Order: sequence, then structure tokens, then C-alpha cells
Amino acid sequence: PRQDPDTFTASDFVVVANRLPVDLERLPDGTTRWKRSPGGLVTALEPILRSNRGAWVGWAGVADADVDPIVEDDIVLHPVPLSADEIADYYEGFSNATLWPLYHDVIVRPEYRREWWNSYVEVNRRFAEATAKASAPGATVWIQDYQLQLVPKMLRMLRPDLTIGFFLHIPFPPVELFMQMPWRTEIVEGLLGADLIGFHLAGGATNFLYLARRLAGHQTSRGTVGVRSKLGVVQVGFRTVRVGAFPISIASGALDEQSRSRSIRARARAIRKELGNPAKILLGVDRLDYTKGIDLRLDALRELIAEGRVDPTDTVMVQLATPSRERVESYVQMRGEIEMVVSRINGEYAEVGRPVVHYIHRPVPRDELIAFFVAADAMLVTPLRDGMNLVAKEYVACRSDLGGALVLSEFTGAAEELKQAYQCNPHDLEDVKDKLEAALTQTREEGRKRMRALRRQVLTHDVDRWARAFLDALAHEGAAGPALVAP
Ligand code: ADP
Ligand code: G6P
Repeated sequence: PRQDPDTFTASDFVVVANRLPVDLERLPDGTTRWKRSPGGLVTALEPILRSNRGAWVGWAGVADADVDPIVEDDIVLHPVPLSADEIADYYEGFSNATLWPLYHDVIVRPEYRREWWNSYVEVNRRFAEATAKASAPGATVWIQDYQLQLVPKMLRMLRPDLTIGFFLHIPFPPVELFMQMPWRTEIVEGLLGADLIGFHLAGGATNFLYLARRLAGHQTSRGTVGVRSKLGVVQVGFRTVRVGAFPISIASGALDEQSRSRSIRARARAIRKELGNPAKILLGVDRLDYTKGIDLRLDALRELIAEGRVDPTDTVMVQLATPSRERVESYVQMRGEIEMVVSRINGEYAEVGRPVVHYIHRPVPRDELIAFFVAADAMLVTPLRDGMNLVAKEYVACRSDLGGALVLSEFTGAAEELKQAYQCNPHDLEDVKDKLEAALTQTREEGRKRMRALRRQVLTHDVDRWARAFLDALAHEGAAGPALVAP
């Protein structure tokens, strides 16, 4: 990144997210450098912003980073500072110990703390103010994800001239669960400051419409919302807010191309060799998060070995688990559980120099990750709940050879599109085992047929199409909507 103060004019297109696409890293010698931020949001949005030449408002990933705006590859980055207390209360607290578990089916019990909420309100206000400054008159602003649900309304009060979109990258929960939230009305009203609110799935959009009637007392459309079509509407005074389903995706064409490169192919062969040329390589790639079902896929593998259905001398599992939210208690606990199963499997079935499970708790460089996708015979994506899951789509995009097999939890957004995967119910361990075994023993023909169909879906529905669908819908506000029903 280079410093270039002349280019900090206000932008016509502004993305707002909790994190910038790069994190500031403080090195032991006191110097700093930037590195790519973790997670699917950044993976999806970075290519979009690059082609739109906009600005990005977000946190630099460390406490009290007082950095000036910077320009990186034509994107202006506006850092929003967070204090250590705000990281604890707004980010680790309200965002990741209240909203994250509540929106992911309360897999872990959400904690409702008033001081966390107060910090969430305050930080959302700071983001709204920073965005108001970064936006040119009449600009389009696209606010992202659960950390910033109050920003649409706050920003609208500051800048009524802006066109405001909001997209939620995680699941929107069932109404019965959302109703637990002590500040449920404030959150619904915060989101309703946008002109268009997007979810991955039609179900989330429908749940939100119900809550806009029930909690905020607005008239809304009824009936189902379509995917990238048939938006719902909420009448907020004189304003019409639209609500839709826009399943996110990846830059599949670029990834397909990268995965075909000679160097990646060679690296994939080398990985296979380094693993001892096993008959089958299983792969898991996740942030280390309790929603991802890393523990249960390891349990499934352990039982399959114990039952003699998988041969531990000829099968290897690689689990790449990038560290995430490491100061939140439930993450500490899940890490302990995963590491226990890994060592249990290796303790029981590995030979010296030949582990059954290879576990890496560090982020892996992009090229290396692609080589792993190319090398893996079965990809295990087993979340208990996931808004979309981009890893599943990345694996498919990397398999131009039509090899490999995808085991995919029904409880991911991706399952609605990737019908030809080996879909499983992650709450049913026998089902996970059966699908894993089926993936490992499929015939070449069966595998090619499934992968061909999966690739057709992923390559024709890429992240550009996602962004275009959302931004087109945002630009066509005012188009006639369906009839409204009173609350
Ligand atoms: P989430 O957004 O919840 O982290 P997604 O599957 O939607 O889950 O996106 C995760 C993104 O992070 C993908 O682009 C994936 O390739 C990347 N990623 C996940 N785990 C790792 C890892 N261990 N090393 C490098 N990149 C990873
Ligand atoms: C998910 C969320 C993103 C988040 C990412 C990484 O993809 O939807 O908003 O940025 O996980 O999590 P982190 O807490 O490290 O930003």
C-alpha cells in the first residue's frame, strides 16, 4: 500500500464492513505490514470493489491503530479505529458472543450484556460518521454484515442523499430465535434505514419481513421472496425498503484458471507425495469456528476407521483451520476439542512419520490452498449452520479435471445450489459417515457426472453476478413492488 493524500476525495461507491480487506500486522521489531484479512466476506467483496474503484471503510484489525487512509490497488481504504475495550465489547462481545451464536441457531448460547450493546451502538455510530465523510454527494453505499446492522439508519439520518444497501453474510435466524434479542426492535429499525436489504436465502428475507411487521409495525408485502427476483417490500413512512435473496459466490472463473496452472498442478502432486502417496486424501478448510462442524467430521472419520470402513494406512486427512476470534471463550473451547480428537485419531491409528490427520492451525497462502483443493479426493464441508460457505464453491471451481467429491452439510446456504454434492445432515453422525464413505468409494463416472453439474452451477453463478444482481436491484428503487399488507 502507498500513501497518496491527493486521492482521498469522497467516493461514489463505498463498501462498509467491520474489517478492511487487509489487516495491519504489528511485527515484534515494532514495524508494521498489511496482510489479507480472514473470512468469506473479504474473499467475495475484494474483486467487486477492485472493478468498481470505490472506497472501503473498515477496521484495520488491531487496537488503537491510528492510520491515515491509504490507497491499495485503486481502492481507498478508510480505517475506523477501535480501542481495546471496544474490541472486547463490540467485536468479541456483541458481534461474536451475542449475534454470531444467535444467528447460527444458538449452537452456543448467546450472551446478552448491556455494556456490549452500548459499545455496539457507539461503534456503529463511528462507522456511520466515517462513511458519511467518505461518500460523495448521491453516492451508493453498501454496508456489510451483522457487525454493522445499525449503520443503515444512522447513516440515513446523517446523509439522506445516499443510496444505501445492506447485505447480511451470515444466516438470518428463525423468528422464534431472533425474538430472544433484547434489542430486537432497534436492530430491525437499524436495518430498515437501507433502501435494499439482502440475505443469502429467501427464507431469511421472509423472516425479516415478518419481523418488520411484528416488531416495527410497518406494512409489508406477504408471500415468498424469489432468488435474485421478486423482492419483498416494507413501507417505512414515505420510503419503500426492499428485501431480497442474493446468494453470494466467488470469482469462480479466475479460480478455475489459477487451479489449471502448471505450478499449482505440480504443487498438488508434490503435496500428494509429501503425504506419502495415500490412496485417498480428505480435506477440511475452515476458520476454526464452532459453527463449521470440524469436530464432527473428525468423529465421523474416527468411527469409520474403527469400523474398518476406512483404511488408516492408505487414507490421509488434512485439516487446515485458520485461527479465528481466539479470545472468545467458545472458540478456545472448540479448539481444545478439535485438537483432542486429532491427537486421539493419531494416537490410535498413526505410525511414526505417518499421521492419519494433518492439522494446521495457521492461515495457508492462497496458492497453497488451491493446490490442496486440486489434490483432495474428498472435501468435507460439514457446518451445523453456515450462511453460504465459500469453501465448497472454491473446491468445485478448482476441479476442472472433474475429479474429487464434495461432502456438504444441508445446513449451509451453498446446499440450496450445490444439489449434486454428497449432502448430509451434520446432526446425524451415521449420515455423515455414510456420505463420507460414498464420496470415497464413488466410481469415476459417478464422480465426473456430479462434479460436471456442480461446476456448471458455480461457474455460471459467480460473485460478479451476485454483486450485479444486488446493485441493479439497489439502483432500480422505485420500481413498482407487490401489494402491501398491514401489520
Ligand atoms: P467464513 O466466511 O465463515 O470464514 P467461508 O467458507 O464463506 O467461511 O469463507 C472462508 C474463506 O476463507 C474462503 O475464501 C477460504 O478459502 C478462506 N479460508 C478458510 N480457511 C482457510 C485457511 N485455513 N487458510 C487459508 N484460507 C482459508
Ligand atoms: C465471516 C463473517 C465476516 C467476518 C469473517 C471473519 O465471514 O461473515 O463478517 O469478517 O467471518 O471473521 P472475523 O471475526 O475475523 O472478521
